[in-house]
Amino acid sequence: MLPAPAFLGYYLGMLKWTDDLLVGIDSIDDQHKELFDRIGKFYDSIDKGLTADKVSEIMDYLADYANTHFTTEESYMSQYGYPEYSYHKDQHHGFISDLYAIQKRLNTYGFSNLLGAELEGSLYHWLVDHVSKVDKKLAKYLKDKIKA
Ligand SMILES: [Fe+2]
Ligand SMILES: [Fe+2]
Repeated sequence: MLPAPAFLGYYLGMLKWTDDLLVGIDSIDDQHKELFDRIGKFYDSIDKGLTADKVSEIMDYLADYANTHFTTEESYMSQYGYPEYSYHKDQHHGFISDLYAIQKRLNTYGFSNLLGAELEGSLYHWLVDHVSKVDKKLAKYLKDKIKA
């Protein structure tokens, strides 16, 4: 069992799904909800003690999920000629490389408070800033295109 981290949990606890985050495209919304749900379960499990296995499991899930989810959004963007494709895709790549860097350090040095804080910061940026602004903008564009 790892010592209770000082940081991990504070931001994760605030990452709750609300319908404000709906972008209005079902396949994207379902994936976003699943991500929040999974992170919520991880957060709840921290109460019962954090283990290296748990952290490693959520990291594996996130890396896998990110690839699937970003591919979904990126195919929509290329299919409908989204003008901000490359900016949006760069953000996705940024999240994936952050996740990989965190995962690599986790595997090499083990869990630390600093690592937990970085993971939270990255998730917060991804789930709140990216979903509610960048994904929403994409969804608005797609809805207009699909309707037209
Ligand atoms: Fe997304
Ligand atoms: Fe996105």
